[in-house]
Parts: sequence; C-alpha cells; structure tokens
Amino acid sequence: MELSKVIKERRSVRRFKTEPVPKNVLEKILNLAIWAPSAMNRQDWYFVVIQGEKKEAFLKISASAFEHFKPILEKNFKDKPKIIEGMKVFFETYGAAPVIIMAYAGKLPTGQDDVWSVSLAVQNLMLAACEAGLGTVWTDGVVFIKEKEINELMEIKDRKLVCIIPMGYPAEEPKTPPRREGRIQWVGF
Ligand SMILES: Cc1cc2nc3c(=O)[nH]c(=O)nc-3n(C[C@H](O)[C@H](O)[C@H](O)COP(=O)(O)O)c2cc1C
Repeated sequence: MELSKVIKERRSVRRFKTEPVPKNVLEKILNLAIWAPSAMNRQDWYFVVIQGEKKEAFLKISASAFEHFKPILEKNFKDKPKIIEGMKVFFETYGAAPVIIMAYAGKLPTGQDDVWSVSLAVQNLMLAACEAGLGTVWTDGVVFIKEKEINELMEIKDRKLVCIIPMGYPAEEPKTPPRREGRIQWVGF
C-alpha cells in the first residue's frame, strides 16, 4: 500500500476479531516500529508483546481501572449510558484483541523519560499494522491509574510506560474524523 494511503486509512480500532495474529506478522510490524528516528539515536524504546495468561492478567488490572473513570464519565456523559457501558467493556476486554503491546520509553542522559522517540516508533507500528490489515489504537487511560501494577506484571523496572496498544484484525470500521482547519501556519511563502 502506498504510504500516503496508509497514513490516511489508519484508524483507531477498538473492536477486534479473536483470530490470532501470526508471530511472523507481528515480528515484521515490530521490526518496522524500531526504524523510527530516536533522540541521539539511542533507540531506547522497549516493547512487550503479550498474549495468553499475561494478557488476561493485564485485563484484570485494566478492568479495575475503570472504577476510577466511572464517576468522571457519569458526569460527562449523563444521558449516554451506552457510551459508559462501551468504555467499561473496553477496559475489561481491550476489544477482544488477541495481542496487546506495552510501549516503554527509555531515559535521556538528562534523566528525562524519552517519551518522544517511543511515540514515533508507535506511529510506525500503527502504520505497519494498518498496512498488514491489522487494527490498533493508542491507549493510555489505564496507564495513568495502574502503571505501577502493570510494570510489576510485565517485570519492567525504571522505564516509563507510555501507551498500551491492542492489535488484531478489525471487527469494526471506524469513521474517519475530518481534519481540523487552521493548524498549519505558512511563513515566508
Ligand atoms: C496521545 C493519545 C492518547 C490516546 N488515548 C486513547 C485512549 O486512552 N483510549 C482510546 O480509546 N483512544 C485513545 N487515543 C486514540 C484517539 O482517540 C484517536 O486517535 C482519535 O480519536 C482520532 O481517531 P483516529 O486515530 O481513528 O484518526 C489516543 C490517541 C493519542 C494520540
């Protein structure tokens, strides 16, 4: 697929077929992710790709995180219980994705978490997945509430968990959100 087509056609997918993704397909996607540019070429990102028991254990943590968001959602979506229920189900199942990927940042020499480099690698990953006919979505709500527990489960120390990406064959065709106007300024043209 042409790059411009992939860029435009990638959508955030939140419902997946349970059909497993072959390991060689996952490897190809992850190997494209790590071709992103990185600060000082440190390539200091780290991906943990999970399925099976680890995924089920993560889903338990994620489901428990929903309790934190429930009152906020109830306030903001007063007349929309279906939206709240949909989010609850997503926290519990991650859309039935067969694979979930944890994206971790490394550290810069300044001691800062290098959230930027891993974010670029995640965009590569999402585009490569789209090209392979797979859906993904960047999620981070659960990270804000349960990062410590998730890192313990993943046995990761001293890295910032930046986002969690479910991946699988899409079971929905999300609408394309239109682009907002006025976000580009041209100077000197
Ligand atoms: C930094 C960031 C955080 C996001 N967090 C979430 C999230 O926690 N849950 C979720 O379902 N989608 C999340 N998204 C996906 C956005 O909702 C999605 O990209 C946006 O609605 C545009 O849709 P599109 O990706 O199909 O173009 C996030 C995206 C970004 C870039």
